[in-house]
Amino acid sequence: MKIIIIKNKNDVGIKAAELVINEIKKKPDLVLGLATGRTMIPFYRNLVKLIRRNKIDTNNLVTFNLDEYVGLNERNKGSLRYFMEKNFFSKVNLKKKNINFLNGKARNILRECRKYEKEIMKAGGVDLQILGIGRNGHIGFNESLSSFKSRTRNVLLNKMTRKDNVAFFGSLKKVPQRALTMGIATIMKARRIILLASGKQKAKAVALALKGKINEKIPASILQRHKDVKFILDAGAAENLNQ
Ligand code: GLP
Repeated sequence: MKIIIIKNKNDVGIKAAELVINEIKKKPDLVLGLATGRTMIPFYRNLVKLIRRNKIDTNNLVTFNLDEYVGLNERNKGSLRYFMEKNFFSKVNLKKKNINFLNGKARNILRECRKYEKEIMKAGGVDLQILGIGRNGHIGFNESLSSFKSRTRNVLLNKMTRKDNVAFFGSLKKVPQRALTMGIATIMKARRIILLASGKQKAKAVALALKGKINEKIPASILQRHKDVKFILDAGAAENLNQ
């Protein structure tokens, strides 16, 4: 477990983007697990910048996003697919068939989730997974008390999580109640993991995840058991680490 503490939110994005670029250079057909959320905006902005500046070939890059709201597709501006199109997919050269996303509108949700697990396996597993963290320590949309053995599935969202995402929807009522998410066991299978966190509002969750007891109340605490995980934190998110 490696903890990197840097100044601010933008620098967190720069550092993570640099690490991802190094991995793509080593393996152009890298299988990259991606995340959404405000923390990721500077990350994608800098990743796009570095890809363009260094003329990195992303044509063989394979992506798997962590999650999607149930009932939404890319036409809905609150969907995670929309977020990804806007911040990353539309800005770099990726093959459509290499972009993997959970379909929140799938008729058979169970089948959709099983298919996603199979697609990840078929791609050879995730080489590098990018993660954010929720204020309650969630990763992906694996809320507090999700089983460490969980796989991709349909989950109920906490009120706090829904409230934190109001900005993407305009009102709490419009934030979906449910989402499809890779499970915790799915995430833990990734060969490398980089978790990004910025802002004081994440300090408590970060401290519990990194220094607290490994337990299902704090889903991110399981990362202490991963053999190749880096935490990139800004000063605000790292604030409670030395207490
Ligand atoms: C959502 C996402 C998570 C993300 C979290 C934090 O719930 N499903 O993957 O880590 O929000 O988001 P933010 O960066 O906006 O604080």
